Amino acid sequence: MSDEKLLRGRVLSFKREPDAINDSSSYDYIEDGAIVIRQGMIAAVGQFNDLSRKLDSNAIIIDHRPHLLMSGFIDTHIHFPQAQVIASWGAQLLDWLNTYTFPEETKFSNAEHAKKIASAFIDELIRHGTTTAVAYCSVHPQSVDAYFGEAAVRNMRMIGGKVMMDRNAPEGVLDTPQSSYDASKSLIERWHGNGRSSYAITPRFAITSTPQQLEMAQALVQEHPECYVQTHLSENHAEIEFTAELYPEARDYLDIYQHYGLLGPRSLFGHCVHLKPRERAAMAQSGSVAVFCPTSNLFLGSGLYDEAGLKSSGVKTAIATDVGGGTNYSMLRTLDEGYKVLQLQRQQMNPLKSFYWITRGNAEALSLEDKIGTLDADSEADIVILDASATPAMALRMETVKSLSEELFVLQTLGDDRSIVETYIAGESCKR
Ligand code: GUN
Ligand code: ZN
Repeated sequence: MSDEKLLRGRVLSFKREPDAINDSSSYDYIEDGAIVIRQGMIAAVGQFNDLSRKLDSNAIIIDHRPHLLMSGFIDTHIHFPQAQVIASWGAQLLDWLNTYTFPEETKFSNAEHAKKIASAFIDELIRHGTTTAVAYCSVHPQSVDAYFGEAAVRNMRMIGGKVMMDRNAPEGVLDTPQSSYDASKSLIERWHGNGRSSYAITPRFAITSTPQQLEMAQALVQEHPECYVQTHLSENHAEIEFTAELYPEARDYLDIYQHYGLLGPRSLFGHCVHLKPRERAAMAQSGSVAVFCPTSNLFLGSGLYDEAGLKSSGVKTAIATDVGGGTNYSMLRTLDEGYKVLQLQRQQMNPLKSFYWITRGNAEALSLEDKIGTLDADSEADIVILDASATPAMALRMETVKSLSEELFVLQTLGDDRSIVETYIAGESCKR
């Protein structure tokens, strides 16, 4: 029996970051295109007429015309234990954490609860076209087992880690410097490089870690340089002030993480809304990644992320939902809100850049562009099928659309999970 599959449709994949809305050399687009999949990998991409002639006689052909075929979306910052925190009313960051988030995360000491939420959470990602996510789990190791376990059942390329937090939170979500080290270490051994899973060493943020715990995080990074690092940075003014009180010797917020050796090309810093010039320079110099979380920054009233300023300082950037501070699992909704955040600062995110960002751009931020984020041959076959006419309002608007860029902008401005016709993970259809 042949394991070969061909998806037919309009194929779009990015080669590099687009400079402008008419930068047609930044992507490959094939009107009557095809993707051939073998054993979960992309075997070939090209014209349907060329590739269909070379198929095995019993290969399966799936016709997705007139829809767009793109690489699956990548969400670089999300909290899986916050699936029942999303849409919690009326607070800014520190109150929101204390009132809603920390109490909710205490429930993840229960492995059954963690498994139930991990399963539902990952199904939501798939429904929204997200095929890879970088997630914060709770402080409890069983939450990490639930997360990677459910991802493995679906054969997804996922990144995540246990939050390390030993102060300024309720007892039920605290560990200690030593227990956070021991638990992270054994989770790395269990999950990093196991199938498609990768581990992220995850000190939650400086407020919830003592210096002793950040030393433990540093030891883990030194012992496991192949792992990612993720934390929060400079999200909200009250957070920044409290952090400065806790670490009075630090030059600025980033300096705390810098002091403990947590910067580098595999380090993801969520938010980066209020960075100072020195912090930007240190981010750029170390190759660290700033993660833009627009729906969260608006919902929690945190502030306006300065993409142009970060880019001009040479900082690598990524984009993410940050559910449950973020308000939607959809990377399309995230782009829409991101566009508005940048509009308020007279910055323009063009639709080619938008779709580059949630695919290849985020893959580059994770140093994974040889595996995911494009439709290049030998990539893993994580693919999303997009319908820009999924709702009556979209179909009406599409009647006047004349270019690919315009279509992408309709998708990001009006689209959501209804525009995700199908999500393929390692070549298998998973949404329908
Ligand atoms: N800072 C520390 N923890 C969190 C969190 O869970 N969400 C957000 N948005 N910011 C944080
Ligand atoms: Zn976050």
